[in-house]
Amino acid sequence: MPVIAVVGNKGGAGKTTLSVNLAAGLAKQASIAVLDADPQGASLQWRETANMQDPISVFPAKENLHVHAAELAREFDYVVVDCPPSVHAPQTISVLVVSDLALIPVQPSPVDLWATVHIERAIAEARETNPSLRSMLVINQLETRTILSRVVREALTEISLPVAKTALRRRAVYRNSALEGKSVFDMGARGAAAAEELEQLIQEVTA
Ligand SMILES: Nc1ncnc2c1ncn2[C@@H]1O[C@H](COP(=O)(O)OP(=O)(O)O)[C@@H](O)[C@H]1O
Ligand SMILES: [Mg+2]
Repeated sequence: MPVIAVVGNKGGAGKTTLSVNLAAGLAKQASIAVLDADPQGASLQWRETANMQDPISVFPAKENLHVHAAELAREFDYVVVDCPPSVHAPQTISVLVVSDLALIPVQPSPVDLWATVHIERAIAEARETNPSLRSMLVINQLETRTILSRVVREALTEISLPVAKTALRRRAVYRNSALEGKSVFDMGARGAAAAEELEQLIQEVTA
């Protein structure tokens, strides 16, 4: 079933955070595999720290990533692939060929947004062999109670990638849950606001 690649061109953008929380949210209604395609292995590490009732399977990526992702896609309802921090990495290129959707977490800074032009190109290239690939930017670490600054809004208009209406705020619970190997859905009241924005995002991207 659907393969969702979480991609980007920079460390720290929120790929692992989005991958594991998206997977945890989807896991409420569907079977989920996370494929950790980043050699740094942060998703695998999260899994090893985890102590959850509803464990999500996290797999280390095998050599032939597109074959591996396609294999998992036959077994699970969704496969979420946590990609390395480069769209030029062989893992990212390989995964985009078998993905239905690429999600691109990006911080609301003009410099980061302008840098997504490389991602746009990588998506366009992947579409030559995978024409049905959809893509969406997800604004991550939006400051609470701050509206997007004028420069950020201008930068967004220069980007041709679609942008998810739901942004993820900067919230300590994203960091703290990860330290415990949990998702924001396991954090009770402390995670409620984050869980709500993730549910909204899930509705948007699975619509
Ligand atoms: N919305 C957020 N609010 C607060 N902290 C966040 C948020 N998204 C990511 N972080 C933190 O930022 C750091 C980098 O995020 P991470 O998901 O590891 O990025 P990447 O996988 O792209 O390198 C981590 O410490 C993570 O906990
Ligand atoms: Mg990561």
